[in-house]
Amino acid sequence: MKDKEIEKLIKEEEKRQKSVINLIASENYVSDDVLKTLGSKLTNKYAEGYPGKRYYGGNKVIDKIENLCIKRALKAFKLSPEAWHVNVQPLSGSPANLAVYLALVPPGGPASAPRLRQGFDGQEGYGGQSKIMGMSLAHGGHLTHGHFVSASGKFWTQVPYGVDKETEVLNYKKIKELAIKEKPAIIVAGFTAYPRIIDFKKFREIADACGAYLMVDMSHFAGLVAGGVYPSPFVYADVVTTTIHKTLRGPRSAMIFSKIDEREIYKKIDKAVFPGLQGGPHMNQIAAVAVALKEAVSPAFKKYAKQVVKNAKVLAEELKKYGWRIISGGTDSHLILVDVWMDGKGITGSEAGDKLEKAGIIVNKNAIPFDTRKPFDPSGIRLGTAGETTRGAKEKDMKKIAGRINKILRT
Ligand SMILES: Cc1ncc(COP(=O)(O)O)c(C=O)c1O
Repeated sequence: MKDKEIEKLIKEEEKRQKSVINLIASENYVSDDVLKTLGSKLTNKYAEGYPGKRYYGGNKVIDKIENLCIKRALKAFKLSPEAWHVNVQPLSGSPANLAVYLALVPPGGPASAPRLRQGFDGQEGYGGQSKIMGMSLAHGGHLTHGHFVSASGKFWTQVPYGVDKETEVLNYKKIKELAIKEKPAIIVAGFTAYPRIIDFKKFREIADACGAYLMVDMSHFAGLVAGGVYPSPFVYADVVTTTIHKTLRGPRSAMIFSKIDEREIYKKIDKAVFPGLQGGPHMNQIAAVAVALKEAVSPAFKKYAKQVVKNAKVLAEELKKYGWRIISGGTDSHLILVDVWMDGKGITGSEAGDKLEKAGIIVNKNAIPFDTRKPFDPSGIRLGTAGETTRGAKEKDMKKIAGRINKILRT
């Protein structure tokens, strides 16, 4: 490389990545093929529009790439092209979610005065249909599920739901009551810090009870769905969004799947992505997504996904044995939320994160449901096993990691 400054920093970061145990639940390590594709000359091409309908010339090859990515995306989640449409252009998870709201939820955020608006179904009402019902950030939702600091909470109104105080898992009965009362336009299921399996059937019933779309944001567990170790949301959802870079082990990017039926929501979603929110798609990224999706249907990936969950279960159980409180008592996925504060008997999430980083274990501090501490120094840490499993970690390694974590946190 001619640019020595950046070259040096890349090397420094590569060295850092190699030298640590990475338990960040949203990170992973992509294959050399994915990296090579990201760094290819595809980045030079402008391709505004969709395959066969571009605003620039010279897109014959690009069309083949995007169509291949679409085909592989449907195959990875066992979907037929007659039943599901997929848009592979979203630049990342947050703009993907925003595109769905832009397409399906009439605007009407808290900043605007109540006024008569038209709902998605043509009914008029005062704001009711402009609501996004999503898990509150404090209980494990993502910012883009309607939180007020995100555009999703500025242009629309969030109806937050959470987990049960006792069990720390979703209480579907309460969520249904809330949905019927608030009548959101869309209900978002699929979270950032929720370790358990989500009952998508129950969410479907809730959405039907209030006339809302059901959107599943499977960003965190997409790789587990592709690997067959987590229920598929496609049976029940109207729309499924996902990042590619977490358990799915691809480049930073996202996709939006929409069910094909008489509502033709996929047409609205395509328009919301381009020209609604974005210009030219990042074709090097889309090609790299295609590479990752091919990897995700391999027998090796199935094995990987299984191991990710096994590892998470062992890590959670071991930490429990050492006396740490695991939110909801365990995990069914790649993700574990640990209460390290334990009402003052332990240490804060920030202290835990800092101590672990000093010792070469990277995690993130995280609020726990009904946290009594502030978000910047919460009671918990979030751990994930997707990255270390890619690097070959097995149950015995998880036992060692749990032992190290315990020792570090207690000294
Ligand atoms: C559930 C969920 N949705 C969306 C996103 C946003 O993805 P991105 O960071 O690519 O914008 C995240 C990121 O952590 C996430 O956890």
